[in-house]
Formats: sequence, structure tokens, C-alpha cells
Amino acid sequence: MKTFDDIQVRRPELAASYLALIKAQPGRPLAMFAPRRVGKTYFLDHDLAPAAKSGKWLPVYADLWLQKAAPLNAINHALEEALDDVAVPASDIGRLAKTPVKRLGAMGATLDLGEAPARRPLPTAPELRLDALVVRLSAAAGKPILLMLDEIQSLGDVAQGEKIIATLRAVIHKRRDVLKAVFTGSSQEAMARMLSTAGAPMYQFAQLLDFPVLGDEFLQKLADHFAQVHPGKRLELDDLRRVFARVGFKPGLMRDLVKSVSAEGITDMDAGVKRFVLDDRQVAGWGALMQPLDLFERSVLVVIARGRPPMGRETLDELAGLPGGRPTVAKVRAAIERLRRAGLVSKAGGRPTAIDDPLFAEYLLALNAAPAQ
Ligand SMILES: Nc1ncnc2c1ncn2[C@@H]1O[C@H](COP(=O)(O)OP(=O)(O)OP(=O)(O)O)[C@@H](O)[C@H]1O
Ligand SMILES: [Mg+2]
Repeated sequence: MKTFDDIQVRRPELAASYLALIKAQPGRPLAMFAPRRVGKTYFLDHDLAPAAKSGKWLPVYADLWLQKAAPLNAINHALEEALDDVAVPASDIGRLAKTPVKRLGAMGATLDLGEAPARRPLPTAPELRLDALVVRLSAAAGKPILLMLDEIQSLGDVAQGEKIIATLRAVIHKRRDVLKAVFTGSSQEAMARMLSTAGAPMYQFAQLLDFPVLGDEFLQKLADHFAQVHPGKRLELDDLRRVFARVGFKPGLMRDLVKSVSAEGITDMDAGVKRFVLDDRQVAGWGALMQPLDLFERSVLVVIARGRPPMGRETLDELAGLPGGRPTVAKVRAAIERLRRAGLVSKAGGRPTAIDDPLFAEYLLALNAAPAQ
């Protein structure tokens, strides 16, 4: 291992257990939920997809957040790409070998061989196209498909979300022999709300799982590399555990913290966090996040960082003392919705709305020391 950035934790057992769960319940997807930046996509990419491949399934990945405006098209596009890959091997040689010979020149004359009988074109309606693509792809690949839909909660934000869920549900059920599915999302609440307005509780459709965060294995690797870089110095596992919890179990962030502590050559993780939060680059980044917000939204952000229930009476009083105009419940609700859409706050499980990045919350608190009570 050469740098902190090379540190990786692989979770083959977790992947195997997920695949076993999927196998045991044909037609029922797994939906794994966890807060942002804890490693969901990384797991799909590095653990689940390889495990699916070695289990003779064809993994297909689609990010619904990237194509928020047309999620079903995004899924279809991913399936079409996979179909291309199966039909046309990626290497140039494969491509040439598969290029059909259409015309043969013979002694100055040309002979038209004509097209091979073409398959019927895929339906254009995205719902039917999804169904047709699933059948065609699994037949071409000769194996079942594992459809991995990342950021599934973004369906909660599109007008057609309920209809898309209904389509997915119907196709996953009908094609259960050849189609398996895994969803990941950062907001169980967004999904649950959408499904309940569609008249069906989420758990009837998918098996909900809390995606486990990384543990000591990751922290130990950080500590080992630190000891290698700084002979004679060591980071205590207990300190690392405490700080990892403090940053919301986000491995990328934790790695950055340990890198900055390492650059300074100190071993006091808590002091390292304090300095990291006030580092110019961090502050500039957070400033950029807040830049598009109006004064009222910024004030709402601060009361959420203080851990106040955002709709409570006291919160409204507190907001009245902050910039941004007279607070009302409706205004607070609208501001929270905008903050949620901007990815700054989230609400996981039964917990209250919170700032998504715990270090950003610490920064907001430092910036706006609570008024004397
Ligand atoms: N198993 C792992 N080993 C090492 N680093 C990891 C691991 N999992 C995640 N990370 C680090 O954490 C970062 C965030 O992971 P990832 O993008 O998978 O999170 P996510 O939960 O999908 O986030 P989001 O909700 O924003 O999509 C990665 O860029 C990577 O650096
Ligand atoms: Mg992700």
C-alpha cells in the first residue's frame, strides 16, 4: 500500500449475503439505504457487481440521480449499453470479427448479400421497452440480469415517480426468472412516502436493509499506514472510532482527515478535526454550498445544525431573531424542502431532519455561536 488513497476495504461476505437474499426471493428487490457518502456506490461497484459476475449474473448499473428528468430512460439506456457490450465485444478484434459483410466484390461485379433478417425494433414506449430489453439482454447474455439502481430515492422527486415504480414492480415481477434487482438510496423516507401515496407500503415491494457502515477494518488500515509513514507515532483506534462516528462514518472524509493529521505529523485526532473544519479550502467549499441560499434558508440551516426541531415553537422564535424575515411554519417547511433538494439536509429513518455532513454542521455552529439562553 503506497498512499492513504490506496486504502480499500472489500466486503465479499456482505455481497454474498445480499445475493443469497435476492436468490431466495424471486421478484423481490433489495433496497439498501444509508446516509450519503458512506460507500453505497463503492460497494455496488467493487463488491456486488464482481460477486454477481462470478455467480454468472450480468450486472447492469444505472444512476437515477444523474438522469433525474427521465429515470426510466436512464435504466433503458444502461440495459441497451449492456446489450451492445454483449453483441459487440469491446476489443477492436471482436468488433471487426462481428462486422457483417454486406458487399462482396467479385471480378468487378458486386454482389449484394442483403441484411440478415433484422429483429423487430424495440418498442419506443419506455415501459414496454424496459420489458423487451430485459428479455432480449438476458437471452443474448445467456444469464440473468442483476439490475442495480443507484439513488432510487430520486424517483420521489419526479412527477412520474409513482408510475415508474409501478412499471419497475411489474417488470421485476413478471421477469423474475431473469431479472434481479438491487436499489440503493440515501433517503428511505422519500421512497416510503412515494410508495405509500401509490397505495403500497415499501416493504411489500422490496426488502429494506440498512446498509452497514465500514468498521474497524478500515480504521486499522488507516492507523497502519500512518504508523508506516510516521515511525514511532501511532493513531489510537479508540480515537479513530470516535472521530469516524463524529463524521457520520464517511470513509472518504475520514481518509481526508487522517491525511491532514498525517501532513501535520500530529496524533491528536480531535485537534485535527477542529483544524480541518476551519481549513481555508473547507471553508471555501462550504461557502460555495451556502452561496445560492437566501438569508432565511441559511437561518433554517443554522437552527437545524443546533439540533432544534425545525417546526417547533421555540425554533420559530429563534428564527425570528435571525436574519431572513418573519418565520412561519409554511416558510420553514418550504425552506427545508429546498435544502433537502440541494442535498444539504436529510432525514433518515425516524430521526429528525439533520445536516447531511456533520462537519458542515460543526462549521455552522462555530460560525453562529448559539445566543445566550
Ligand atoms: N470499502 C471502501 N473502502 C475504501 N474507501 C471507500 C469504501 N467505500 C467508500 N469509500 C470511500 O468513500 C467515498 C464515498 O463512497 P460512495 O461514493 O460509494 O458513497 P455513497 O454512499 O454512494 O455516497 P452518495 O450517497 O453521495 O452517492 C468513496 O469515494 C471512497 O473514497
Ligand atoms: Mg452513491
